[in-house]
Amino acid sequence: MNLKKLSLLLLLMVITGTTFAQKSIGNETDAQKKKRMEWWTDGRFGMFIHWGLYSGAARHEWVKHNEKIDNAGYQKYFDQFNPDSFDPKKWAKTAKVAGMKYAVLTTKHHEGFCLFDSKYTDYKATNTAAKRDLVREYVNAYRAEGLKVGFYYSLLDWHHPNYTIDDIHPQSPADKSDASYERMNKGRDMAKYRQYMRNQITELLTNYGKIDIIWLDFSFPRKDGHGKGKDDWGSVELIKLIRKLQPGIIIDNRLNLEEYKDGADFETPEQVGTDELAKYRGKTWETCQTFSGSWGYYRDENTWKTHRQLLDLLITSVSNGGNLILNVGPTARGEFDYRATRALDSMAYWMHANNRAIYNCTYAPDTYKVPENDKLTYNAKTKKLYVHLYYYPQGGTVTLPGYAGKIKYAAFLNDASELLYKPSPGNPDDLILTLPAKKPQYEIPVVELTLQ
Ligand code: GLC
Repeated sequence: MNLKKLSLLLLLMVITGTTFAQKSIGNETDAQKKKRMEWWTDGRFGMFIHWGLYSGAARHEWVKHNEKIDNAGYQKYFDQFNPDSFDPKKWAKTAKVAGMKYAVLTTKHHEGFCLFDSKYTDYKATNTAAKRDLVREYVNAYRAEGLKVGFYYSLLDWHHPNYTIDDIHPQSPADKSDASYERMNKGRDMAKYRQYMRNQITELLTNYGKIDIIWLDFSFPRKDGHGKGKDDWGSVELIKLIRKLQPGIIIDNRLNLEEYKDGADFETPEQVGTDELAKYRGKTWETCQTFSGSWGYYRDENTWKTHRQLLDLLITSVSNGGNLILNVGPTARGEFDYRATRALDSMAYWMHANNRAIYNCTYAPDTYKVPENDKLTYNAKTKKLYVHLYYYPQGGTVTLPGYAGKIKYAAFLNDASELLYKPSPGNPDDLILTLPAKKPQYEIPVVELTLQ
């Protein structure tokens, strides 16, 4: 092809929006991926668990970084770690009752401490007063409740002697000069740390049966070279290893493999407001959210989200085609504290009556306009549309805009009680739904519309 023809072809591709196929690591088709992820997409709601030595400090899981603590200074949390109230069966039941379909536990967070019995380190739960593999107990308990089991594994490691010091390491040099980094990293060898990670991930994905999700966290490439990304982790090789060991597993997007079509299974908008979720429509995603500001147990953090805020996160996620993973930070004794328990109980109460508006649901087709102030979720298989009543008109009505001829029955979801509707006298395309004066005892009640 001559140059003229080539440029014409390129121009045509730009105009028609054709692009060169993105690189890929494996050869899974879109349909195969969809099938592999079906349980996760349908489940919509999961539990994140951040638990480690930082739970004892009880002031953020980044305490080692925030207070620039070195290994010696952090040792007290290891020495004191004694989760005498740890009862994973109770955790699993709580998750199940709250309506969650899966869980993801920090097997190792940035601090480097392992909740599992790894052959490759002494820095693990078996060497604390716990004296046992806590990951194994978690896996058994959650599986027994019929929940899918996930592992979070931190790519960062602020304890490992070969993990090089970067600009978020607790010991990162104050002057940030290349010379200081070089001096501090003498004797540290990332190749050895990479092997350590591969060994541990191999253990996690070999010794505990089928693992449904792996949540690797996180990449922070920097122009000045003092961050970390795909080459530091050996991400491509790592993802191949993971897929080989657990072909069905679902992998998050923090390995810095954006240039590959299959470098991740889902996006992970973290702690974003509900207003931001609409932009993820059409993608595969899960928003991760805390009850308060911290992931690890934080005793003195008191700005906890309200029940309504938590519900809004769940409903808004589903109404934009995504998942919500809600985090619990158990105490160092191994329990969910009263605030977490109360929050989860409130979700359990709502989900018990309304989960049909969450599971297997997504955003509604454009033909259904969103009634004012409310949010919609939609189940294509059962042909149901759910109106989440954010504002309850006292003894009033809700206008369903343009719904005439589109629905055949309306009822509250919580008790299946019929709701009457009629065409709007002002605009026959609209339907007017009449609601009882007394709001059902749910923060956000749901109307189930059976579609024509
Ligand atoms: C972050 C934080 C971390 C938390 C995670 C959860 O990247 O480093 O502490 O585990 O996000 O999404």
